[in-house]
Amino acid sequence: MSAERQGDAFENLLHEERRFPPSEEFAANAVAQPSLYDEAREQGTEFWARQARELLTWEKDFTQTLDWSDAPFAKWFVGGTVNAAYNALDRHVEAGLGDRVAIHFEGEPGDTRTITYAELTREVKQAANAFESLGVRKGDRVAVYLPMIPEAVVTMLACARIGAVHSVVFGGFSADALRSRIDDAEAKLVVTSDGTYRRGKPSALKPAVDGALEKEGHTVTSVVVVRRNNEPVEWTEGRDVWWHDAVAHASEEHTAVAHDAEHPLFILYTSGTTGKPKGILHTTGGYLTQTAFTHKNTFDLRPETDVFWCTADIGWVTGHSYVAYAPLVNGATQLMYEGTPDTPHQGRWWELIEKYKVSILYTAPTAIRTFMKWGRDIPKKYDLSSIRVLGSVGEPINPEAWMWYREVIGGGKAPVVDTWWQTETGAHMIAPMPGVTAAKPGSAQVAVPGIAVDVVDEMGESVPNGSGGYLVIREPWPAMLRGIWGDPQRFKDTYWSRFDAMYFAGDGAKKDDDGDIWLLGRVDDVMNISGHRLSTTEIESALVSHPSVAEAAVVGASDETTGQAVVAFVILRGSAKDDDDIVTTLRNHVGKEIGPIAKPRNILVVPELPKTRSGKIMRRLLKDVAEGREVGDATTLSDPTIMQQIAASLRK
Ligand code: PRX
Repeated sequence: MSAERQGDAFENLLHEERRFPPSEEFAANAVAQPSLYDEAREQGTEFWARQARELLTWEKDFTQTLDWSDAPFAKWFVGGTVNAAYNALDRHVEAGLGDRVAIHFEGEPGDTRTITYAELTREVKQAANAFESLGVRKGDRVAVYLPMIPEAVVTMLACARIGAVHSVVFGGFSADALRSRIDDAEAKLVVTSDGTYRRGKPSALKPAVDGALEKEGHTVTSVVVVRRNNEPVEWTEGRDVWWHDAVAHASEEHTAVAHDAEHPLFILYTSGTTGKPKGILHTTGGYLTQTAFTHKNTFDLRPETDVFWCTADIGWVTGHSYVAYAPLVNGATQLMYEGTPDTPHQGRWWELIEKYKVSILYTAPTAIRTFMKWGRDIPKKYDLSSIRVLGSVGEPINPEAWMWYREVIGGGKAPVVDTWWQTETGAHMIAPMPGVTAAKPGSAQVAVPGIAVDVVDEMGESVPNGSGGYLVIREPWPAMLRGIWGDPQRFKDTYWSRFDAMYFAGDGAKKDDDGDIWLLGRVDDVMNISGHRLSTTEIESALVSHPSVAEAAVVGASDETTGQAVVAFVILRGSAKDDDDIVTTLRNHVGKEIGPIAKPRNILVVPELPKTRSGKIMRRLLKDVAEGREVGDATTLSDPTIMQQIAASLRK
């Protein structure tokens, strides 16, 4: 859909009159003061140099803040050396904070672990030793396929410590999806668990790893397995080792060697407009600087007293930046929860907030909308008075959900910060500062200090207030992706070719009359399902890989709870039958190819697909059908009667 068209649908939102400035008390004591914007404006890249030196401990100071001579390939903090794990762990222990809780872990069945900075440091050192003894060296890739348990964070930091590059694969992805990511990154080690708990029952993970490694030709030499749910597992001798054998018995001594500021920290795969997921590459110094900076300022962090809870899984970028890295680099205490919000009851999250006195909650609009559906009586039963700041991420938050979040969860006083960013940007890019900005329900509003975002038209010209267009970033930023793993050309083509010398984010946006930014969703073939990024092409490829399917087209249709839902239109091969079974079979097939999160909500069997004369599928028209609207302009179709045929077949 064009940005313009999307803009029209959101037109009514742009006349939002409500404003929620911070209370005087909050503003007076806030971590981020208005001067932060002035400093960022006046100091240019030196602003980031100052943040880097203030927020991180460098082994060797950098000599140049930004080298953009080989644009769009950036180098930040040139000549500096730094170790991510040392910054997240050892230095806090050295500063006498070893007894501070780093992680309050709550398992879905209700088991708990309280892990101090000293304990976490010890375990990361052991894991680093264990991985090294399995042959992992600086620069090697490690695939991580783990649930939300502390070992996930330990693994990521242990990799960072030795300079190995982690590639976390979300536990909801299938064996096939895991294999393609292992192959692309040429991972040497996989870290997984026997399983996890999901909705009160043990759920397996290891079989997917076994499945992924079944076929020869991979690069994996060892699989480390955490025992989490005690379910029986198949064992490959010589390849598989238990975490409690390899890590728990390893030495507790390990010195963190500093790495170059531009040393790769991790690869994280995300969906683009083509079928093949992109390995987004992040490096060390700039990423840590901007994640720590935004965690501190966007959330008004007080590490001595706050309990921070980011509900994202480590399989997504939010779980990297605001679970594994920034909270620990900032020396904060955080909550980590393994399970779903409705197990064993729909008040689980609020019970946890009461129990751990969570003061900063960071979650996604899809979760908020689900809680709205369950009703305000559930959270009302718990004491949520510890909450001071509420964050939102992953998709546009509709003003009703924003208001509900503020009133019901935040008691009408906690500022809501809507944070726009992406896997590629590494850290918050657009977000209000809670003690400065008068918040507007539904809008992410303003660029983070030091970040240059804009909305431009087709020609790349900045649009005036009151107009819409494409979201771009005009200047390099510290946490920017450094490339796509193994594919520099695709990096240039995807982000830097649409507009001259600007990063194209793929999102439509509008500036309202005050110049505040409203995000309007993707303008490309990327869908956003419950804040998870999926590409239409990827699911189409999965569908046509089934022998019964001749052709498929997928669209993201708006959905009250999940933001968007996958709707697939398929043409069956001659011999295949159109019945309920085929729909179930195809849904399961997509689940196997990609993962349960990609299963279409609806699969509609149609006789034809709407195509232009050049053969391009007109998804816009299918989206109209999927969303129950009157079908838009179909005059450019090669056969204009097709939409009637589709409508007739759907009525059948
Ligand atoms: O469309 C935007 C949407 O999520 C996309 C990025 O997805 P991903 O890389 O998976 O990262 C999600 C978590 C950072 C963006 O292109 N998006 C993310 N945050 C917001 C958002 N859309 C509107 N408002 C947001 N706050």
